[in-house]
Amino acid sequence: MNSSLLVNKATNTQSAIRLPVIGANWKLHKDLAETESFFEKFRSLVDDFGYCEVVICPPFLDIATAVSAAEQTTIHIGAQNLYWENDGAFTGEVSGEMIKASGCSHVIVGHSERRRYFGETDETVLKKLVAALEAGLTPIVCIGESERKNVESVLEKQFRCGIAPLSAEQFAKLIIAYEPIWAIGAGKTATPEIAAAAHRLIRGHVTKHLGAQAANQVRIIYGGSVKPDNAQSLMAQEEIDGFLVGGASLDAVSFAALVNLYKSEEKSESRINQSCNYV
Ligand code: PGA
Repeated sequence: MNSSLLVNKATNTQSAIRLPVIGANWKLHKDLAETESFFEKFRSLVDDFGYCEVVICPPFLDIATAVSAAEQTTIHIGAQNLYWENDGAFTGEVSGEMIKASGCSHVIVGHSERRRYFGETDETVLKKLVAALEAGLTPIVCIGESERKNVESVLEKQFRCGIAPLSAEQFAKLIIAYEPIWAIGAGKTATPEIAAAAHRLIRGHVTKHLGAQAANQVRIIYGGSVKPDNAQSLMAQEEIDGFLVGGASLDAVSFAALVNLYKSEEKSESRINQSCNYV
């Protein structure tokens, strides 16, 4: 369940309480032994995941190890990419069905590194989203501008061409990651205000194309140099429903510190109260 509805008695409007998501995007890092030792350490540092959805996305070859290391926990395992065909002569590709069968529940789609180095476009992102959804996976679809000056037009186009053609039913299963490329791996995160403004912009596009309910319920997470020491101020923004973390997710201690930020009940309470302000 991605979110539930809360009625604001003062305004008689419905608002979603969106369960935060924290995704680890390991990119091209960690072999089997490193994957095992990460999970051993991480599991000892984070004892209860009910307060957010934790998704760890290792390289394909580590998935089986990660899935068995996450057994008996609520940690979700995701892939970092998929191909849109289910089978055939497509050397080197992996399908959504294969990813699902390997024990994954999520998949990252359209990460900026895939767009930049592997030629992915809004059109292929859309095909991958459809394939992921058909396979029963939850896609974490990434959008974001490369330079700060053209935020609005880039987000508008990526949303309109890569995501908006989905039906409302398909869209309901997505997580959107806003990842400004200038902040990824740069040690330079977006300020909470910049990130929140971009999230509002994206939510506005969702309202326009798919309606207020879809906009109210979709989780929009932030990615780009998120670390335990800058996450708190980003989390404080009601628009930011979690994080997609690269560098800081490679270390079990720093990733656990990020997950544990969502633990405090006070925090959840304030998010629930804030969520009444939507609609
Ligand atoms: P970063 O990467 O946290 O290392 O900036 C985020 C991402 O690319 O998803």
